[in-house]
Amino acid sequence: MANFDVIIIGGGPGGYVCAIRCAQLGLNVALAEGRDNLGGTCLNVGCIPSKALLHATHALHDAQMNFEKMGLMGAAPKVDWAKMQSYKDDVVGQNTKGIEFLLKKNKVTWIKGWAEVPAAGKVKVGGTVYQAKHIVIATGSEPTSLPNVEIDEKIIMTSTGALALGGIPKKLVVIGAGVIGLEMGSIYARLGSEVVVVEYLDHITAGMDKDLAKTFQKILTKQGLKFVLGAAVQSVLVVKKRAEVIYKLNADGQVTVLDADAVLVATGRKPYVAGLGLEALGVALLPRGQVQTDVHFKTSVAGLYAIGDAIAGPMLAHKAEEEGMALAEILAGKAGHVNYDAIPSVVYSTPEVASVGKTEEQLNAEGRAYKVGRFSFMGNGRAKAVFQGEGFVKILADKSSDRILGAHIIGPMAGDLIHEICVAMEFGASAQDLALTCHAHPTYSEAVREAALACGDGAIHA
Ligand code: NAI
Repeated sequence: MANFDVIIIGGGPGGYVCAIRCAQLGLNVALAEGRDNLGGTCLNVGCIPSKALLHATHALHDAQMNFEKMGLMGAAPKVDWAKMQSYKDDVVGQNTKGIEFLLKKNKVTWIKGWAEVPAAGKVKVGGTVYQAKHIVIATGSEPTSLPNVEIDEKIIMTSTGALALGGIPKKLVVIGAGVIGLEMGSIYARLGSEVVVVEYLDHITAGMDKDLAKTFQKILTKQGLKFVLGAAVQSVLVVKKRAEVIYKLNADGQVTVLDADAVLVATGRKPYVAGLGLEALGVALLPRGQVQTDVHFKTSVAGLYAIGDAIAGPMLAHKAEEEGMALAEILAGKAGHVNYDAIPSVVYSTPEVASVGKTEEQLNAEGRAYKVGRFSFMGNGRAKAVFQGEGFVKILADKSSDRILGAHIIGPMAGDLIHEICVAMEFGASAQDLALTCHAHPTYSEAVREAALACGDGAIHA
């Protein structure tokens, strides 16, 4: 029986990062993955392919909206959907092959196939049983659906189907104004689809700072997305190869039927732990199906650990990676730790939206005294030069200590800008620390410094 120090089940960002780190720290590691390619949902049918389509359609939108303004004349390019799909597939292929190379380089054994845990310390793949001191569940998540909605991945799709549609739908209804709905909705709106987003709550992007969410909705509306808020989708029917989305308004119970060529169900994801044999092992689960873990990622069964989307917390690839790294260090006898207060989240729309730390709503609920430093990208020369003056940076700092508690950005490269604030928060920095740091001119990052200045004696370009 093959024997390993660690067997990780699942080759997504949580699992493969954990495997590489374990190997770097001298452990003998195997990783079980049943897909033909490594990288999990993120690389195969999530973050990476969606970013390829977001990039391509953003370039198209830029050509349509801005090229002429810069003296770049001529018709905007036409879309060859099949070619755009193959560009996306190439990007995915390069990335998944890259992970395979990294596993080989680090001498991680890839056990190909779907794994189960028949007993503590044992992993079974196909007919073979492997033994390990430590087993890590890093099996990720899968889309949820709604009652009365049957996914066929052609007319009624999850994000997986939406990334690989046969053609561009004339009318797309998106159920759920979360990250998936808005990223995919943006892609199809730029490709010319009429996009209607139906959301249960009275605002988009649940959990996001409301100020940010409001500006985001305004910008998306200007880009052509339509929103029906405060509406619960009750069912979706397929009638003569078209969809009928039936929703009920929360306010007055009025029922409306929306006709569409395609429907994207983006109502959340749930942990994917089916088939592992966790029930028979007696592994404790949380009420929403996540594997229960302690701060060291230990489950209720000795030697069995879990990380990523399969456990509690935000379902983000980089949160899973952090947990994978921390667990590897713990398994190697070091002090692995994740600071959950400084995990950024990003929506890769144009403009991008990024947050870290507390929202104003959370600080108010905690009764915490805070100050707000806000700076509009309209005051940032670089952003204005590239038609990206919409949006702002907002830094929330403790009223008396000036320590940064959170930051919220909507604007160009927000997903990159946020990291300056993540680092500052990791170091326990004050807004003044950021404000006193020289920022190169002309950069988008100056807007971050200006927001930090606005927490003190005031921004310069406001
Ligand atoms: P979500 O949980 O972010 O949003 C789902 C939305 O659907 C909610 O606003 C909810 O109120 C709404 N909803 C639920 N039932 C409904 C109904 N019957 N009628 C109308 N609205 C309804 O879920 P989403 O967007 O599917 O994303 C899943 C996970 O994947 C999230 O945890 C997200 O953070 C993660 N993700 C992150 C990305 C990123 O970081 N850029 C990209 C894609 C996914």
